[in-house]
Amino acid sequence: MNNDKPINESSRFVSTAINWYPGHMTKARRTMEEDLKLVDMILEIRDARAPLSSLNPDMAELGKNKRRLILLNKADLADQNLTEQWISRLSRDTTSAAATDARNTGSVKSVRKLLDEISAEKAKKDKARGIVNRPARIMVVGIPNVGKSTLINSLAGRASAKTGDKPGVTRGSQWIRLGRSIELLDTPGILWPKFEDPRVGIHLALIGSISDDVLPSEDLAAEGLVLLSKHYPEALTAKYGSLDEDPYRSLLLIAERNQLLKKGGAADSEKAAKRFLDDLRKGRLGRLTLDMPFD
Ligand code: G4P
Repeated sequence: MNNDKPINESSRFVSTAINWYPGHMTKARRTMEEDLKLVDMILEIRDARAPLSSLNPDMAELGKNKRRLILLNKADLADQNLTEQWISRLSRDTTSAAATDARNTGSVKSVRKLLDEISAEKAKKDKARGIVNRPARIMVVGIPNVGKSTLINSLAGRASAKTGDKPGVTRGSQWIRLGRSIELLDTPGILWPKFEDPRVGIHLALIGSISDDVLPSEDLAAEGLVLLSKHYPEALTAKYGSLDEDPYRSLLLIAERNQLLKKGGAADSEKAAKRFLDDLRKGRLGRLTLDMPFD
């Protein structure tokens, strides 16, 4: 436990700066810079529960002049009202935004429709300049675990992109054809090089985009409990009964109430932390959003 060094209101228990930028991610940034020269637009996938924390930091800077479609994926797990607020906040000029659920056929069809509209727009401009039959080239980017592979697989209608089961697993860039008018460029996920605001790392860890080995689960769960007791207190009470103001004591209550016990019979707060994190990530606490559009 580490609750003696407050950093700010929403990161009281995780006091170490998360600086997780493996070597392969530096390489991925360079690859991305090269790849950007080849594409007409960017399809940026973020997690609807953390639309700001899951922003691809390199893309914000490297691709600032490209047309962009931001998809807030896993919208089925996020707070609907806040997702709508995020969409209107993110849409501007050459950037549009939409909510998606990559595991839902109807939702994927809507994404395809948006991409078809964009490619038709481009074909029209090309034609005016005498260029015909050139497909729209779209670079797909997103930090690990936002659902990029799932979406690409669903769009392509076959298992064309390997679906990774561990956050942080990356692949080399590859092209995927969607009909005759669109080519998707799948790029390896890139994580924030340095989490200047500790909340970014905490929110990403809470939604499962950072490996669980980076932060102690009890401290991370403590952060999550504090955050949820502020924004979604009813969800916590409905799932676990009434909890304590101290999140570590709450973990013991969750352990006792769910028979998560150590060998001698004492409440096991680590097991409770893991149960809470799993409940949060799988949507068993209801639909919720960690990044607030009004923060
Ligand atoms: P990535 O390429 O961006 O790293 O992510 P990937 O597609 O591998 O998806 C990561 C996990 O998120 C997968 O679950 C996937 O099924 C799930 N997922 C993707 N899109 C959505 C969505 O819109 N809504 C919800 N609820 N989940 C989504 P997993 O547990 O790792 O695998 P599995 O349960 O699919 O076997």
